[in-house]
Order: sequence, then structure tokens, then C-alpha cells
Amino acid sequence: MDMNPLLSSEHALLKALTYVGAHIDEDLPGKAWVGHTPFAYWLISTLKPGLLVELGTHGGGSYFSFCQSVIDNELDTKTYAVDTWEGEDHAGSYTQSIFENVSRFNQKHFATFSTLIKMKFSEALRKFDENSIDLLHIDGFHSYEAVSGDFNTWYPKLSTKAVVLFHDTHEFQPKFGVHRFWAEIKNKYPEQCFEFEHSHGLGVCFPKSLNAAINFQNKLGANFKNIFYLFSVVGDDLYYKLHGKYSLQKNYELDMKDLIDCLKHIKNNNPDLAKDLKQFL
Ligand SMILES: C[S@@+](CC[C@H](N)C(=O)[O-])C[C@H]1O[C@@H](n2cnc3c(N)ncnc32)[C@H](O)[C@@H]1O
Repeated sequence: MDMNPLLSSEHALLKALTYVGAHIDEDLPGKAWVGHTPFAYWLISTLKPGLLVELGTHGGGSYFSFCQSVIDNELDTKTYAVDTWEGEDHAGSYTQSIFENVSRFNQKHFATFSTLIKMKFSEALRKFDENSIDLLHIDGFHSYEAVSGDFNTWYPKLSTKAVVLFHDTHEFQPKFGVHRFWAEIKNKYPEQCFEFEHSHGLGVCFPKSLNAAINFQNKLGANFKNIFYLFSVVGDDLYYKLHGKYSLQKNYELDMKDLIDCLKHIKNNNPDLAKDLKQFL
């Protein structure tokens, strides 16, 4: 019997909203991204990318969330993590043991579809065909020059429906220039960009297709804006648990009415899920 698409998409949403990252209790560094793990988990289940590439993996905070969703949703996605695993000015320089831990974790849980590429981004480019990558996560060095270089050099490798994620779009410390590049991207593709501000910011862009951006929005339906809020709230709560503070601190004003409407909508459209929802709340 075919599964009701609404039922399956709302199950996927609830599952993602309660996802806390299978790996984040492990002794792997890099928790700045943690607030995006529920969204990342949902994004993979929804877009079902054939090929995913991450530029900048460090302890695997983001990468292993993508991988866990590939497994849980029984997808055929191939995933690649590119990093020198040597660090730089922003991430700090670090020892070989991080790569060894990441490699061990990858081998233990995700070896069938996930490959670590220990080299510079510019060297890894040649390993990928043009128009092949469906999800590119850019989280390397965070200067304006580095992030614009990463986007422009990898752009030809993106498939038409590709989504590009940029971390640190809401990080304004000196030397962090992702926000500047993100402002340009939003200006260039105004209807193809979406953004989270918590957990240092995550830009979500479909640079090659307006249709892909519309399809993405349709997956969340009329409640798109509220569900984005929900991912921010749940994500920042996760951030709080690991960091002891919220990433958005007092700048963030939560509209409780919007959230309640959104949860009611999910519940009313699928009474069978009421029990799960109660548990979650
Ligand atoms: C911010 S960390 C990645 C964080 C990770 N995504 C997470 O979720 O915790 C940035 C990483 O990018 C790597 N990196 C920066 N520039 C690079 C380049 N040009 N080539 C390869 N690796 C690079 C650094 O070694 C560092 O591990």
C-alpha cells in the first residue's frame, strides 16, 4: 500500500524536529553548527540528493547529520567530505587525531556511501563532474575572498536542482566575511535564497533554478515561514544544550502564536500523529 505523502512528509518533519544528532555526544569537536542539525536532517530526507559534497568538515558536526539522515531515510546518496583536516586561522590548527577520530566514526557508521577526501578544496575539484552535485555545503575558511572563491569555483559542479548551504552567514566578527558574500547572493537570487540566523547563520540557496527553490518551499506548504521558525527554535535550544547559551540571545523574538498555529496545523492534518506530537511537546 502506498504511503500517504502528507503522512510521510509530516512524519519526516517531526522526526527531524526531534533529531539531536547521533554523533554529538561523541568526542568530536566543532559544535558551532549544532543548531542546524534538525534542519539538515530534514533537508536530506526531503531533497534526497544523489551526490552531496561538504567543503569543511572538521569534527563532522554537520557532515555526520547529513549522513545519519541518508541512513535513516534509506537513500542512495553518495556523500563526500573535503578537508585538509589541518585547520586554519578561524578553526585553529589542530592535530592529526581529529582526522583519525572522524575517519574511525565514518568507517564505523557510514562507510558504504561516505568518503573522506583529505585535501584542499581546489585539489578535490577535479574529482567531481560538472553538473553533478545536488547539495554543496560550504563551511571552510570564512573570509569573503575564501567563501566567494569556494562558491565560484564549485558552481560549475552543481546540478540544476542543487542547493548550496553556507554556514556563518550571521557571524559578524572581524575577519568573517560570509555575511557580505551572502548579501550579494541574496541580491542576485532573491527568490532562491532562505536563511536561518541562529547557530551563526545558515544560508540556503538554489542558485541554478527558481523551480527548485519553489519545490523546496512547497515541501513545507503554506506553513513554510512558521516551520522555519520552528527549526530555529528547536535548533537554538540544541545550541543552548551544548553551549550553555542561545546563539541569538536577546535579539531573537519568538512569536508564540505563529508557532502554536504551526503545530496545530501539523496535528490537525494528521490526527494519527497527535501522540507523537504530545511526546515531543
Ligand atoms: C569551520 S570548520 C568546519 C566545521 C564543520 N562543518 C562542523 O560542522 O563543525 C572549517 C574546516 O575547513 C577546513 N578548510 C578551510 N579551508 C580549506 C581549504 N581551502 N581546503 C581544505 N580544507 C579547508 C579547515 O581545515 C577546517 O577543518
